[in-house]
Parts: sequence; structure tokens; C-alpha cells
Amino acid sequence: MPKVQSFDGLDALSRAAAGDLATIVHDAVRDRGGCSIALSGGSTPKRLFQLLAADGRDALPWDRIDLWWGDERAVPPDHPDSNYNMTRQALIEPLGLDPARVHRMRGEASDLSVAARDYEDELVRALGSPPVFDYVMLGMGPDGHTASLFPGSPALAETRRFVVANPVSSPLTKGAATRITMSPPALNAGRHVRFLAAGADKAAPLKHVLEGPKDPKYPAQLIAPSSGDLVWFVDHAAAALLTGGRS
Ligand code: 6PG
Repeated sequence: MPKVQSFDGLDALSRAAAGDLATIVHDAVRDRGGCSIALSGGSTPKRLFQLLAADGRDALPWDRIDLWWGDERAVPPDHPDSNYNMTRQALIEPLGLDPARVHRMRGEASDLSVAARDYEDELVRALGSPPVFDYVMLGMGPDGHTASLFPGSPALAETRRFVVANPVSSPLTKGAATRITMSPPALNAGRHVRFLAAGADKAAPLKHVLEGPKDPKYPAQLIAPSSGDLVWFVDHAAAALLTGGRS
């Protein structure tokens, strides 16, 4: 059973997640000389990114941290829907991070399968096979998806590849779309896997994911690290339906 930590709102959740991340970063740099992070997209992480930026460049060993993404939309890097673009504005530019350590998925590619394969090749060269991240950040949609592992999409069954172009169709993706996403094997290889989920619209899916039966309609259930630890950082609104509620 994954650990669930519930907080009084997104700001408190983000501050706690920032502290947890800092510990993981310092330990990784001490033990392995660097830290590789797979970032989530969506809106929830933005507050965490803003807090990290506000702490300043010296708060963490940013020159030893590599940023990757768990998924990306089929848009250019300056598009308002781009996961990279949100991170660039909230974290990368404010801290002036080294572009050589920012590994963007090429959502603008005309062939997303090629872009996914290229990203996987870069990832495996850097982190091995399977790629072992020190920190994997994930969000969860109101439909129980995570990264771009949407209900009914082929990537849910992916057991060999680590990054794929995944055709999805959901009201959340404004209908049929293709996303680049890391697969369950890549996400589950992480040493420290963290979900950030806030808001009342996450309460019902969170109840299903954590306390319901195994159900492919809730892809976030696929996240079960093979040897790493899994912690959910949630707010009280998202935790409202959990047995025992707040923790
Ligand atoms: C994406 C994300 C996705 C996100 C969830 C939650 O590309 O949208 O990777 O998995 O984490 O949809 O999004 P919110 O944080 O906006 O609720």
C-alpha cells in the first residue's frame, strides 16, 4: 500500500513535496554524483516549481540535476499546452538551468514515434535499461490517467519500450490525440516515485486507484515501483473519500 500524505491545500502539499525532493536530490548527488528527475506535466506541479525557483539556484545542486519529462503533448515547446513550456516558465528560466541538463521530449515532431524512439535512446544511454530515475513525479487526471497513460490507450500494455507515442482519445485531450509518454516499466523503475494530486475532482479517482479493485480504467494503478518507494502527496479535498481520509 503506497504511503499517502494529505495536506491543507496545494501550497502546503507543494512545500512538503519540495522538501521531500530536496532530500532525494541531496542523497542522489552524495551517493551517485547526480540526480535524474522525470517531471510531470499538467498544472499541479507548477506551484512546486515556483517554490523551487523562489528558493534560488543555490538551494539545490542544479548543476548535478538532469530534468526529463514523463510525457509531452503533440505541440511545440512554446505552446501553452506544452509540459516543457510550463516548466520553462516556472522553473528553468527563473533559475537559468543548463540547457544541456534539460531533456525535452520533441512534441513538435512530425513523426511522434520517431521522437519517442529518439527520446528512449537518449534516456537509455544516460540511465540504462530500464532507465532508473532518482525521482519520478506524476500527476493523476480526474479519469485516473497518469503521464499520458490514458484509459483504453495501447501504452497501458507496453512491457518492453520505455517511451512511446500513444494514441489517446479523451475529453481531457480534446478528443483523439497522440502523446509521447513514458511507459509503466520506465516509470516503475524509479527509485522514488511521487504523485502530486490536489482538488475535489481527484477524490473519486483516488479512491478507486488506492482502494478499489484492479481496473484498467484507472491507469494510475499501474504505478507500482519494482524496488523504489511510492508516496502520494495529496490535499484534503483529494483525500476526502479515502478510508481514514486525512493522514
Ligand atoms: C499531462 C500530465 C498528466 C497530468 C494529469 C493531472 O501531460 O497532462 O502529465 O498526467 O499529470 O492530467 O493534471 P493536473 O495536474 O492539471 O490536474
